[in-house]
Amino acid sequence: MRLPDPALVVLVGPSGAGKSTWAAGRYRTEEVVSSDALRGVVGSGPHDLDASADAFALLETVVAARLGRGLTTVVDTLGLDADRRLAWLAAARAAGLPAVAVRMHTPDALCRQRNAARDRPVPAPVLAAQLKRAALVGTALDLEGWDLVHVVDTDEAPRVPEEAPRRVEGHTPRRGPDDRRSSQGLRVVLQVSRFPWGEDPAGWLRSVALAADEAGFAGLALMDHLIQIPQVGRAWEPIPEPWVTLGMLAGLDTRLDLGTLVTPVTFRPAGVVAKAAATLDALTGGRCFVGIGAGWWAREHAAYAVPFPSARERLDLLEDAIRTMRALWASGTKAYAGGRVDLPETTGYPRPAGRIPVVVGGGGERRTLRIAAELGDACNVASDPETLDRKIEVLRAHCRDVGRDPAEVAVTVLDLPVVGRDRADAWARVERLRGRSPAAAFARRTHAGTVADQRDRYGALADRGVDTVFLGLGDLAGPEDVLALADLVG
Ligand code: UTP
Ligand code: MG
Repeated sequence: MRLPDPALVVLVGPSGAGKSTWAAGRYRTEEVVSSDALRGVVGSGPHDLDASADAFALLETVVAARLGRGLTTVVDTLGLDADRRLAWLAAARAAGLPAVAVRMHTPDALCRQRNAARDRPVPAPVLAAQLKRAALVGTALDLEGWDLVHVVDTDEAPRVPEEAPRRVEGHTPRRGPDDRRSSQGLRVVLQVSRFPWGEDPAGWLRSVALAADEAGFAGLALMDHLIQIPQVGRAWEPIPEPWVTLGMLAGLDTRLDLGTLVTPVTFRPAGVVAKAAATLDALTGGRCFVGIGAGWWAREHAAYAVPFPSARERLDLLEDAIRTMRALWASGTKAYAGGRVDLPETTGYPRPAGRIPVVVGGGGERRTLRIAAELGDACNVASDPETLDRKIEVLRAHCRDVGRDPAEVAVTVLDLPVVGRDRADAWARVERLRGRSPAAAFARRTHAGTVADQRDRYGALADRGVDTVFLGLGDLAGPEDVLALADLVG
């Protein structure tokens, strides 16, 4: 519907009805004269009620001046005061401009919900009084002589975000609308373990992440090591701190899930990991995951003065860490008594935007897979078919033991293939990467082949019950290598 223009437009409706939002979508900022904005001009801010008298005096001056010049003037106040309305109507008549009242007809519950979501809500009794007056204003407007009374109906579903769903241990992993899957039904997440970024670390990271998003990857995972591991590169090659790096990637416009694969539980107290992950989840609207493991490399711990307890103790730490994170991510602030982990309170803000999936890394059959079965949303094991079947069997057995539905614990694999444009290119890469390993053994271990070869293999992984493949490239150089995988992940 087109309203007369130029015109005087008087907004009418309680707080949270959507008056300012409606006006902002239709008029230039300069055309909207808002009592809240003027409170901010003459007072300490838009809600400085002590500044109301000065703000309204200024508002009247601006309205009169604009109408006097024949300029469209949108009066953004509650509009519930009949005397004020009639004065503006008279001023429009005097200026020869049509006068329009716009009544925001918004359900009371929605106004209350929006009001509650604000940083400085109007006190509940004040809002209740406004709602009462607003219910009666329709009749008054019809009798006042406006050239047009335009009613804006807001019966659409509230757009205020719902409270995050309550998180329960052992709840099915989320499957949102952004659950990207390949044609074979797999989620394929790019695992980045090497960072040949030359002189431009941020530019390289950005280009790789944008390429991953464009290629259709479901997410991007970062390895967490203090020194580059010998399996991937040289100790003097860069290996960035993952939470800092993920924070940068969170600022890019992508739909990628972002997380670690895996963070050793020894590096940071679990509560601090929970804080980092909740922050990342809040910043990305629910795209964070936490891959976590017991840690294995003594050298990096020694070099950074990080304690490296025995394997048994590290597995205990892993178990406690997951319980601690879950407790801190759960709603409320109540104390947590988990037996092994006791927290006097679980005050954690920002709250995660959704349930943060925990991926338990490692194929240790007695403890690691048991921890995954009991506490994880997923396990992460190696992708070679011989051991995969066995690990899945052990995981399922642990699930039965602890009374967990195996469908709630996704199987994910870390897959480190050598992928070539064609057969010749695949072999050239094998030759470059194999170090002292015999070429045939290296090619077999890395499933060297083309994208089509990898697709066949991924089909077989999906058939075995794999949910997610974390795909790492041992020779990742830049975005082109990522884009070349589009047919594998799409
Ligand atoms: P407004 O800030 O537009 O309400 O919307 P208002 O009527 O001008 O309220 P007062 O009188 O100044 O207090 C209130 C909240 O509702 C959201 C806005 O983003 C804002 O946070 N809103 C508004 C929606 O979500 N959808 C809409 O269609 C309109
Ligand atoms: Mg407003």
